[in-house]
Order: sequence, then structure tokens, then C-alpha cells
Amino acid sequence: MKKLVVSCLALLVTGALSVHAATAKATFQQECAKCHGRDGKGHTPMGRILRLKDFTNPKVQKEMKDAEMFKTIKNGAKDKATGRERMKAFGGSLTDQQIKDLVAYVRGLGKK
Ligand code: HEC
Repeated sequence: MKKLVVSCLALLVTGALSVHAATAKATFQQECAKCHGRDGKGHTPMGRILRLKDFTNPKVQKEMKDAEMFKTIKNGAKDKATGRERMKAFGGSLTDQQIKDLVAYVRGLGKK
């Protein structure tokens, strides 16, 4: 029994190291896809209304800065003219590490 517990723990630890990318993908599908689309292209009803960027477009990728992406995910985005929320802030529900992983995930969408 003790042996089983030890090997389970070992599995948990090695699993945790490789889990970042998988979690970012799951989070994206769960939290972000309703606007940005499962493929990141923003071809969703919300995406059309909000006129979202296509994350798979190399030009879009080039124009985005990692620091800005991080800030937008953490603090959300407001319409400058009306002050209305365009993207909600995820700083309350995601850790900085999770947000960094999401930035990397969004970068990956441009490489396919
Ligand atoms: C309610 C719809 C909505 C949801 C949900 C949403 N976004 Fe956004 N996102 C937007 C809008 C709108 C913008 C454009 C913001 C602006 O006006 O600059 C945006 C912009 C971005 C940008 C671009 C920032 C830049 O530098 O140009 C990134 C990256 C991003 N979102 C990632 C995410 C991630 C990751 C999630 C999930 C955790 C997410 N978004 C969830 C609507 C959404």
C-alpha cells in the first residue's frame, strides 16, 4: 500500500511539470473560445460583434506584445470611447503563471 502511494505521488509530480501546456489549452477552450473561437480566429458571434483579431494571422501575432497580452488577460479591456467592458479581467480567477501559459498558448496558435 505504501509503495502504491509513493508511486502515485511520483506520477503526480511528473504530471504537474508537463501539465502547463495542456491546462492552458483547456482554459482557453473553456474561458476564451466563446469569444476568440476554439481555433483563436475569433470567428464566433461574439468575435464578430467585438471585431476580434485572428490569432492565427502572422501579422496579428507580430503586432501583439507579450506584455500587452498579459495585461489584457489579467486586467481585461475596455472600450476607450464608452468605457464599456470588451474583455473581462481574468486576474481574479487565474494566477500569473496560468496567464503566462495562456500567452504562450496564444502565441502557439500563430505557428500552425
Ligand atoms: C467576452 C469576450 C472575450 C473573452 C471571454 C476573452 N476575450 Fe480576449 N479579447 C476580447 C476582446 C474584445 C479583445 C480586444 C480588446 C481591445 O479592445 O483591445 C481581446 C483581446 C485579447 C488579446 C489581445 C491583446 C493584445 O495585445 O492585442 C489576447 C491575447 C486575449 N484577448 C486573450 C484572451 C484569453 C487568453 C482569454 C481567456 C482567458 C480571453 N481573451 C477571453 C474578448 C474576449
